[in-house]
Amino acid sequence: MKNSIIIGIAGGSASGKTSISRQVYEFFKGSHTTCIIKQDDYYKDQSHLSFEERVKTNYDHPFAFDNDLLVEQLKQLKEGKSISKPTYDYTQHTRSDVVETITPRDVYILEGLFVLYDEKIRDLCDILVFVDTDADIRFIRRLKRDIEERGRSIDSVCNQYLETVRPMHEQFVEPSKKYAHIIIPEGGNNTVAIDLLITKISSVIDAKE
Ligand code: ADP
Ligand code: C5P
Repeated sequence: MKNSIIIGIAGGSASGKTSISRQVYEFFKGSHTTCIIKQDDYYKDQSHLSFEERVKTNYDHPFAFDNDLLVEQLKQLKEGKSISKPTYDYTQHTRSDVVETITPRDVYILEGLFVLYDEKIRDLCDILVFVDTDADIRFIRRLKRDIEERGRSIDSVCNQYLETVRPMHEQFVEPSKKYAHIIIPEGGNNTVAIDLLITKISSVIDAKE
C-alpha cells in the first residue's frame, strides 16, 4: 500500500471549506486517487430522537460529532482498509440511510468545523488548513444555502446563528486557527492561496512516493 496523505481543512460554517476541497479534488483526481471526507457525515446518529428534539441539538459543539468513529475510519483508510462511511441528512437532522463504501485512496481531503480542534484528528493530517472568512460573509452565504439546500426558514437560520453558531464559532472554531499550517483568507475565490496549497500537497505526495 502506497503512503496516503490527509489534508485537513477547517473553518467556520460557510467559510468555503467545501469549495476549496472541491478545487483540490479536481486538481488531483486525474493523477491520484482521491476523495473528500466531510466531518459533517460523522454527526452523531439521532434517529432515536423525535424531529422536534433533534432540532434543539447544538450542532456547533464538538460533542455533536462521533469523532471516535471518524478517527477510527481514517486510521483504517491509512492502513489500506475500506470503510463504510455514514452520510448525513441536514433536512432530517440525522444520519441518512445511505452508507458509502470508501476504498483506500492516495489523497484524502477531510473538511469540517472541528478538523483543527481535535488533537487526534490533527495528528492524522499531513497538512492543516484554516479557511478564514469574515462572519458577515459567512452568515449571508449560510442564510442563502440553508434556505435553498437544507430546508430552513429565515427565522430558523437567524435564531440558530445567534444561539449556537456564532458563540460556538468564537469558543471552539476560531481558536483552532492557531493549529493551521496554512490560513486561506476569503475562501474559494483566493486562487493564489489555493495554488500554493496545491503546490504544497504535490510536494508532500512526492516526498512520500
Ligand atoms: P463550508 O463548506 O465552509 O460550509 P461552502 O464552500 O459550502 O462552505 O460555501 C457555503 C456557501 O457559500 C455555498 O452555498 C457556496 O456556494 C457559497 N460560496 C462559497 N464560496 C463562495 C464565494 N467565493 N462567493 C460566493 N458564494 C460562495
Ligand atoms: O457546511 P458547514 O460547515 O456550514 O456545516 C456545518 C454547519 O451545519 C454547522 O454550523 C451546523 O450549525 C449546521 N448543521 C445544522 N443542522 C444539522 C447539522 C448541522 O444546521 N442538523
